[in-house]
Amino acid sequence: MGGSGSKRCWTTSSSASAKVLLFMVSLIVVSGFVSVLGPLSSNWFFLSTYPWLWSSGLPAASSSSVKFSVSSVKGSENRLDLVVVQVHNMEEAISDDDSVVNRSSTPPHAIEPLQAQPNGTKEDMDYTPMSGSINIVPPMNESLLKARRDYTNLDRLEAGLRRARTAIKEAKQGNQTQDPDYVPIGPMYRNANAFHRSYLEMEKQFKIFVYGEGEPPVFHNGPCKSIYSTEGNFIYGIEMNNQFRTRDPEKAHVFFLPFSVAMLVRFVYVRDSHDFGPIKRTVIDYVDVISKKYPYWNRSLGADHFMLSCHDWGPEASRSTPHLYKNSIRVLCNANTSEGFNPTKDAAFPEINLRTGSIHGFLGGPSASHRPILAFFAGGLHGPIRPVLLEHWENKDEDLRVHRYLPKGVSYYDMMRKSKYCICPSGYEVASPRVVEAIYSGCVPVLISDHYVPPFSDVLNWKSFSVEVPVNDIPNLKKILMEISPRQYIRMQRRVVQVRRHFEVHSPPKRFDVFHMVLHSVWLRRMNVRVHNDVDVL
Ligand SMILES: *[C@@H]1O[C@H](CO)[C@@H](O)[C@H](O)[C@H]1NC(C)=O
Ligand SMILES: *[C@@H]1O[C@H](CO)[C@@H](O)[C@H](O)[C@H]1NC(C)=O
Ligand SMILES: *[C@@H]1O[C@H](CO)[C@@H](O)[C@H](O)[C@H]1NC(C)=O
Ligand SMILES: *[C@@H]1O[C@H](CO)[C@@H](O)[C@H](O)[C@H]1NC(C)=O
Ligand SMILES: *[C@@H]1O[C@H](CO)[C@@H](O)[C@H](O)[C@H]1NC(C)=O
Ligand SMILES: *[C@@H]1O[C@H](CO)[C@@H](O)[C@H](O)[C@H]1NC(C)=O
Repeated sequence: MGGSGSKRCWTTSSSASAKVLLFMVSLIVVSGFVSVLGPLSSNWFFLSTYPWLWSSGLPAASSSSVKFSVSSVKGSENRLDLVVVQVHNMEEAISDDDSVVNRSSTPPHAIEPLQAQPNGTKEDMDYTPMSGSINIVPPMNESLLKARRDYTNLDRLEAGLRRARTAIKEAKQGNQTQDPDYVPIGPMYRNANAFHRSYLEMEKQFKIFVYGEGEPPVFHNGPCKSIYSTEGNFIYGIEMNNQFRTRDPEKAHVFFLPFSVAMLVRFVYVRDSHDFGPIKRTVIDYVDVISKKYPYWNRSLGADHFMLSCHDWGPEASRSTPHLYKNSIRVLCNANTSEGFNPTKDAAFPEINLRTGSIHGFLGGPSASHRPILAFFAGGLHGPIRPVLLEHWENKDEDLRVHRYLPKGVSYYDMMRKSKYCICPSGYEVASPRVVEAIYSGCVPVLISDHYVPPFSDVLNWKSFSVEVPVNDIPNLKKILMEISPRQYIRMQRRVVQVRRHFEVHSPPKRFDVFHMVLHSVWLRRMNVRVHNDVDVL
């Protein structure tokens, strides 16, 4: 698990150059298709809204940040305000399939795919068995055939997503599904059945294309130790993956931009320059290259693309190109809603400080009754919240162990294991590695932050296994914790132990672990978007 994982993590992928070659070949084929399609406007829009219910306390995503393709949705003008709304219950959660079809199947200029479909490949057959249909179309040249094939490829992917939405909707009322590894159950989940069904659908069909362009150390590479470890672990996890990664972009639901912001900061940023320019130019160049070489970026204006960053500057890096910022799925540790993080399209990335590159030795702790200390925090004065915490509680109370520096000989992890609650205030950015450290050690996290969306909030009901304390309530911290009954505490502590699997880092990844939960976050957001080709030339 540990050692080999981190070694692999720092090794560059040996097949990187082969990959580039492979796609240069496919590029030649694709270019004809693009010219047929001509300049593309935005060919995607959000389906009703976010497919999961959110806690009502969550700030509403600003709909103004979402770009819609009005022209491609017939009669959508008067429905636009319905398209992005906050969902508060599971009934609204998965958009109704009929309405999806009605709103999307008649873009004004789209061709009717079944009218003139060339013979499909074998895989096409079960979806649109149209053998012989070639007879009813005028002779077509290569690029037209290619365009139609692409249309049906995308159409097939969208049909799969539609089936998944229906299955998830049904699962909300349905029975538990069997699973050899793990069956999600309990109040830690917003809807355990729906999550499980969604997870299984993801395993069944979700495909990710990783652009091959770019060289390490900035691309196809990332830190696998340290506070930014989730960047490297995810990039390596997906590049080594055979189940979700596809080498055929035509089969992909989403496209991954494999740069590491932590590596950009290390290798491209000029230290102490306070100039984001070089980082931004690198991202702009990358998007430029892939949007010229492949048709996919222009097709959706980035809406079926995703990037990730655990670095504080992830949001800033994503600002380099407006479509990346506005349309793409951004998986960010720095999930600060007042800095543009939009939980309906972006996903929070857990910050995990892997000091040794492995979680080995960091998991587990005593049960609720063997935790003598009420609450614990140790850490620097970073950011705006911690000074308030330390001012009120540093060395003030026997029960609340709040320190800037740990006393000599006291172990940070021992303190977490001895404490009932672990205080996790935001630092320079909203996320704190303490949240996952607390979960690993079986300590109930106390989140003190403004504008933070904790990871996997679409699936996990954080209120059931953590305490959220508003910054203004820091003076009442002890009172708030003391008011939680021992019984309630025991329940929360058990749930912390139960959700731990979703934050564990494994190499290779295991089902339901943090790698797969991040994938699932992206999967959910992709299900919320419908992409189609504008084939008005045909
Ligand atoms: C979808 O369109 C069909 C036929 O036009 C109509 O009967 C049906 O009510 C529509 N469904 C929704 C949800 O609008
Ligand atoms: C299409 O498929 C049918 C039946 O499989 C076959 O007879 C026909 O030749 C095919 N046409 C083309 C253009 O491949
Ligand atoms: C194919 O047909 C399209 C549309 O008629 C045309 O613009 C294009 O030049 C043709 N390509 C070739 C290679 O003949
Ligand atoms: C759920 O399980 C019960 C008992 O096993 C069964 O009677 C019922 O038909 C099941 N419902 C569905 C929707 O499968
Ligand atoms: C995508 O759009 C950009 C800007 O409009 C253009 O330069 C580029 O050539 C397009 N890409 C393709 C593959 O057509
Ligand atoms: C979140 O963003 C707001 C607005 O930019 C900023 O004032 C605040 O400090 C950020 N929070 C943290 C913890 O960085």
